[in-house]
Amino acid sequence: MAHDEAATTPDTRIELTDGFSLSRVAHGYWRWDEWGISIDELSSLVDGVLDLGITTFDHADGYSDGRAEIAFGEAIGGRSSLRDKMEIITKSTIHYPGDGVTLKHYDTSEEHIIARAEQSLRHMQTDYIDLLLLHRPDPLMDPESTASAFAKLHAAGKVRHFGVSNYKPLEFDMLQSYSDLPLITNQIEVSVLAHENFDDRTIQHAQTRRIHPMVWSPLAGGRIFFGEDEAAVRVRAELEKVRDEIGAEAIDDVAFAWLYTHPSGLIPITGACELEFIRRPLEALRYRLSKEQWFRIWVACTGHKVP
Ligand SMILES: NC(=O)c1ccc[n+]([C@@H]2O[C@H](COP(=O)([O-])OP(=O)(O)OC[C@H]3O[C@@H](n4cnc5c(N)ncnc54)[C@H](OP(=O)(O)O)[C@@H]3O)[C@@H](O)[C@H]2O)c1
Repeated sequence: MAHDEAATTPDTRIELTDGFSLSRVAHGYWRWDEWGISIDELSSLVDGVLDLGITTFDHADGYSDGRAEIAFGEAIGGRSSLRDKMEIITKSTIHYPGDGVTLKHYDTSEEHIIARAEQSLRHMQTDYIDLLLLHRPDPLMDPESTASAFAKLHAAGKVRHFGVSNYKPLEFDMLQSYSDLPLITNQIEVSVLAHENFDDRTIQHAQTRRIHPMVWSPLAGGRIFFGEDEAAVRVRAELEKVRDEIGAEAIDDVAFAWLYTHPSGLIPITGACELEFIRRPLEALRYRLSKEQWFRIWVACTGHKVP
């Protein structure tokens, strides 16, 4: 199948809950240290990303030990006109060594979540976070304490919406059962080379809850281009075939189209720093794969036919 007729003018936004939408693609800051760019260059990058129509920026308190949030704040802080044009997402609850602790662990207590949200606000030089995610499930979670943090941050106007990341269905439902505020997304790993969240039904759970998952490492962190393991080599060959069939420019277009073809409304977070790469998931919005093309790529990853 070439261009999907319905997708010739692709939706550029996706609604997560009433009155709150994200751009169809988000830009993530996990690789801030790898980018090796100055604050001025980051400022230009943010402008370029916004010009493309990507308004959603994905952070976490621990990306580059906090330096990613600080750099972003320096890039946008003095430019108040930018703030209303973007959605800022950040995550917390991973407690890293060096900050009063020696072992990496999770902390979903009210005290920790509030302290980290306030730190993120200071780092990013903003008054509010659009969407705060709990970064990892916490086996020691006291959901009453976590829900209380949500309520207080929301009431203070410091955080507008909440969600989770890397949560499994039961973990999601358990937390939701304690919070009056809805969890509006689950940020999970999905790509042509990462099927775990299909296999364990996390994506089907999101569909049950009518939420759109955000997707991290949508190109498997670049492994679709450079991976030399058997699955990566097989998938790359299949992506190349489908690229030629649909008339796409590059194999990343096909990898993004594979995500868009799924009916759950997956929202990819690109981790690239080159505008030319960041543009690809937007270009790919025009494509939908046939069911057979989708399964050929699935089978190339698993290495066996479906039962
Ligand atoms: N919630 C979580 O637990 C979690 C975990 C991991 C990540 N995340 C989020 O997801 C975001 C994306 O993750 P990711 O960075 O792994 O995503 P990704 O988009 O799968 O991988 C990005 C990498 O692929 C490279 N790349 C992209 N297009 C390319 C192309 N056409 N040719 C060659 N290389 C290309 C980039 O290179 P360049 O750097 O040269 O552009 C970059 O190194 C993160 O920034 C973060 O916001 C969340």
